Amino acid sequence: MEKEYLKWFLEARFGMFIHWGIYAIPARGEWVKQQESIPEWQYQSYFGTFNPIHYDPAAWAHLARTAGMKYAVMTAKHHDGFCLFDSQYTDYKATNTPAKRDLIREYVEAFRAEGLKVGFYYSLLDWHHPDYPVAGDRIHPYRNNPEYQDHRGNLPRYVEYMHHQVEELMTNYGKIDIIWFDFSYDDMQGEAWRATELVQMVRRLQPGIVIDNRLGGNIKAREPEIYAGDFASPEQIIPPEGVTNEAGEPIPWEACITLNDHWGYAAWDKNWKSPRTVVRALVECVSKGGNLLLNVGPTAKGEIPEECVDILHQVGKWMHRNGESIYGCGHATLERPEWGRWTRKGNRLYAHILERGIGPINLRGLEGKIAYARLLADDSEIRLERPWNAAEYPEDAFLSFPTAELPDEWDTVVELVLK
Ligand code: GLC
Repeated sequence: MEKEYLKWFLEARFGMFIHWGIYAIPARGEWVKQQESIPEWQYQSYFGTFNPIHYDPAAWAHLARTAGMKYAVMTAKHHDGFCLFDSQYTDYKATNTPAKRDLIREYVEAFRAEGLKVGFYYSLLDWHHPDYPVAGDRIHPYRNNPEYQDHRGNLPRYVEYMHHQVEELMTNYGKIDIIWFDFSYDDMQGEAWRATELVQMVRRLQPGIVIDNRLGGNIKAREPEIYAGDFASPEQIIPPEGVTNEAGEPIPWEACITLNDHWGYAAWDKNWKSPRTVVRALVECVSKGGNLLLNVGPTAKGEIPEECVDILHQVGKWMHRNGESIYGCGHATLERPEWGRWTRKGNRLYAHILERGIGPINLRGLEGKIAYARLLADDSEIRLERPWNAAEYPEDAFLSFPTAELPDEWDTVVELVLK
């Protein structure tokens, strides 16, 4: 934790990712233009009719805070090139749709007012900008379209545009806490984006901003590039042992995870994760020294799907009771116990009991080290006592759990205060 400006980020542990754009109209995810090679004229109909009459960022911000989230990252521009902010470098922006609003400005103000840190996701790719190369690109929506086979675009000019937009985002919206660039691939990485210069500009305009690691470079290197970023960003996966650099030292990371199977709104995708799964994923991240950035994909009308709202409310109830085992906590440097996971903050150890098992709960190697134990949810005492039948395990401490089932089946947290 050498970098002082990362302190809040490492303590926050839980954030909201928001993928929103005109792709919410086809409602088949944010890659729909690419996946279905949708021609520009057809995609344009989404632009012409995007009218989020129910957009109420204060409600989103309130939801995030109620869920126990401490920060948010919202798409200012996704791969389709559509800008939710009022950029002077393009007409392809929210203010020119029926929305007629700078959706990013309202987001920033609402989330800040709710006491949350605010971040921008910004796509390095751009499937709308004519200067973005198609020929030779293995991803572009028109890569197989005969008319585009010679479309080389003008990468330097596109990169200029991209720098200008990032400059706008770093200048026009007050203090921004995170910038989340996405993503680099093939030759499109590092200095292809003029990444050193870009990061220097971002750091100059927003001192203390937290930057992700998708501009290219190797964040795990002993001497990472200046643009290698502040944290690793594993996607749809929680790393088995957290993330370490080449010297074997833990580095900051944030797992980004969807609530169903899409980032952008997908009307038919009902494969929602349960609140229990979300809570356990968050605990897993923290137990391995990482953050969880949990995604919602609002509808074209500007609403976070009802199912997400329900899940987040329930997660929030758990967080209200047990948040102290999450915020400011990290890896406990103890072996993973049979019954669940550990998190730790200073002299406080949090036993996340996921499986009740039978009999006393064994705290391996902790005999004589614990001052007292409490159920974190209500501060009620949990008795630490050596059962008559545990003489053979003199190094271990034991919790005598009063009930055969756990009071909280998602995760019962016992706070252990070390001597
Ligand atoms: C990917 C996808 C993108 C999504 C992002 C979130 O790189 O391209 O659609 O925004 O991951 O991590």
